[in-house]
Amino acid sequence: MANPIGPQDGPVAVTGSAGYIGSHIVKDLVEHGYAVRACVRDAANLANTAHLNAMNATGAGSVTLHTCDLTVAGAYDEVFSGCIGVFHAAAEMGNLVGSTPQKVYDGGLTATRLLLDSLKKAGSVRRLVYTSSFAAVGHPAPEGHVYTEDSWADMNKDQRREGSTWDMDTVARNREVAYAMTKVDTERYVYAEADAHGFEAFGVCPCHVIGPLLSATHQRPWAWQTRIGDMLEGYGHPRMFWNIVDVRDVAATQRLIVECPDNANGDRYNLVAADESGLMPQDAVQAILRRLYPGIGIGGNYRDGPSRRGPVAFLEKVVTQLGLEPKSAEEAIRDNADSLLAWGLVQTRPGEDNWQRDGRDLGIKSKWNPHTYPAIDPALRKELEARER
Ligand SMILES: NC(=O)c1ccc[n+]([C@@H]2O[C@H](COP(=O)([O-])OP(=O)(O)OC[C@H]3O[C@@H](n4cnc5c(N)ncnc54)[C@H](OP(=O)(O)O)[C@@H]3O)[C@@H](O)[C@H]2O)c1
Repeated sequence: MANPIGPQDGPVAVTGSAGYIGSHIVKDLVEHGYAVRACVRDAANLANTAHLNAMNATGAGSVTLHTCDLTVAGAYDEVFSGCIGVFHAAAEMGNLVGSTPQKVYDGGLTATRLLLDSLKKAGSVRRLVYTSSFAAVGHPAPEGHVYTEDSWADMNKDQRREGSTWDMDTVARNREVAYAMTKVDTERYVYAEADAHGFEAFGVCPCHVIGPLLSATHQRPWAWQTRIGDMLEGYGHPRMFWNIVDVRDVAATQRLIVECPDNANGDRYNLVAADESGLMPQDAVQAILRRLYPGIGIGGNYRDGPSRRGPVAFLEKVVTQLGLEPKSAEEAIRDNADSLLAWGLVQTRPGEDNWQRDGRDLGIKSKWNPHTYPAIDPALRKELEARER
């Protein structure tokens, strides 16, 4: 039976609160009256947490900071005690010093096992929302295939490319497979545990998340919001196809899930483009930025050519079941760019043609830069380096 919660029922906890998505979850919850226990790795690191404390002044709810490390058993025992809901958005993304693909895997499933031990010990938590990823949804399929919430990344796994096979040997060396596998395995684990222990668990599966940065620390490598920053600075990236969701919608959805009386344990929600206007090749993102910020060099595709249309998926369940009114992709792009400019995190260059691509080296370095990403698969690193040389 559905067991929805609301701010009047008790406090909630958010893991990964200092992160890009976690910060928006905390903000949305405080605005809607919740008492939020914000879990961060180091509450004393003010550069990373000051924006969370400031949220106390912005809504009907409140926020307190708690230092907890995902990799430590019992780390959430105290903070989860008395909580009615947990939003689990912390993860080892592979961009920390010393990251490896295996740590990315363990930072998902192994860490979530420890976290659920704390949650079960608390005995008060009725609903858990796990931030999974579209990486747990997209599977090998023909171009243009439309994915839904019934899609799982381990479908058609025999069609995976060499070097990307779905097994633990690949996890040890390939960050992308480690990330997708840990998201799938963790989702299935939390649904099974919830079923066995009398609480409800839900998964959200976001694709390319962009939108405003709430802290300067959210300009992180291999994060889509940072790639928008590279474009503003005139850095040209390899081609890709975007499936855009606004970070504010990722946050609001999580609150709507716990408040919904019509969902049940195991329900998952794709967080993707609202419609065709949020599905676009990268040069369309570039065109929007050029229109919004005329007169500066906006980086686009490093080399010309078509992008493979995918992944294709559209918001459905979050609209029909939860009533989310999604923001447009253009709003997400604009507010992402405006926040980077407001934080002083990007330096623009005058002149519309003043951007770096094949045959036009302006000496610009990428802040999204995959080459320095600690947990990246060496073969992928080489491929990206070659493509950008
Ligand atoms: N951004 C996207 O496009 C996207 C798309 C799909 C899914 N997701 C998922 O969304 C979640 C949040 O991602 P994000 O983009 O917000 O990334 P993020 O900004 O890097 O946030 C991740 C947070 O995890 C925390 N963390 C890492 N290791 C930890 C540990 N050992 N103990 C406690 N906390 C730890 C970090 O906390 P501190 O800041 O305190 O160090 C960090 O703030 C992740 O699960 C990610 O897989 C993101």
